[in-house]
Amino acid sequence: MPTHHDLITRTQRYVREELYADSSGHDWWHVYRVWSVAKKLAEIEGANSTIVELAALLHDISDYKLNGNNDTAATEISRQWLTSLGADPAVVNSVCNIIGSMGFKRETNNSTLEAVIVFDADRLDAIGAIGIARVFAFGGFKGDPIYEPSVAPVNYDNRDAYIRRSSSSINHFYEKLLHLKDSMHTATARRVAEHRHEVLVKYLEEFLAEWGGSDVFGKRGVIAE
Ligand code: ADP
Ligand code: NI
Repeated sequence: MPTHHDLITRTQRYVREELYADSSGHDWWHVYRVWSVAKKLAEIEGANSTIVELAALLHDISDYKLNGNNDTAATEISRQWLTSLGADPAVVNSVCNIIGSMGFKRETNNSTLEAVIVFDADRLDAIGAIGIARVFAFGGFKGDPIYEPSVAPVNYDNRDAYIRRSSSSINHFYEKLLHLKDSMHTATARRVAEHRHEVLVKYLEEFLAEWGGSDVFGKRGVIAE
């Protein structure tokens, strides 16, 4: 049976090779950040670190928005990979269950501690300064405009509408990113999310001020006085 170290090192190498060239926001460095944060959360929360680290490393090995509607692909790829390494079948099942339950609004109330840690780490990477970089990178990848003031943000409440949606990157803040802080499961992630949320709010304020020119002409206008 491979050791924890073998499993993690080999999986890390495999995922890095698979995702290195991605420019949709699911690149290796996204996975790296989710892995690092999840590892830390696992330590703090006393979760099984092998399961958490493997699920974090493999969670974006395939994605429904990139591979059509095939959200079982990541689970299958992960199962094959971990089985080929000779991992404990119980570990393989736990990791694959986590990966299978990821994605927008697919969580159940009986998720394990290991699962919620990976969800939290993934969501933390969608907010804060990095989240801002990723939203415009993904929007550009989809061909969306930065902002389209004539299109109001929509409150999507089902997954199909979410996949079909076409909007602007700024609307994505209102449609998804500003809700993420309230969906954190662990106390530690919630605390980090509060700060990253404030970064989003501040950024939107500045963005909209510049858009309307109120930083130039308005009360705070730098050339007004
Ligand atoms: P993950 O798979 O990492 O949980 P998603 O696949 O939902 O997250 O999104 C990946 C990244 O792309 C996130 O940073 C998210 O904010 C961004 N993103 C997702 N959908 C859109 C969209 N319609 N417009 C702009 N950015 C998006
Ligand atoms: Ni992800």
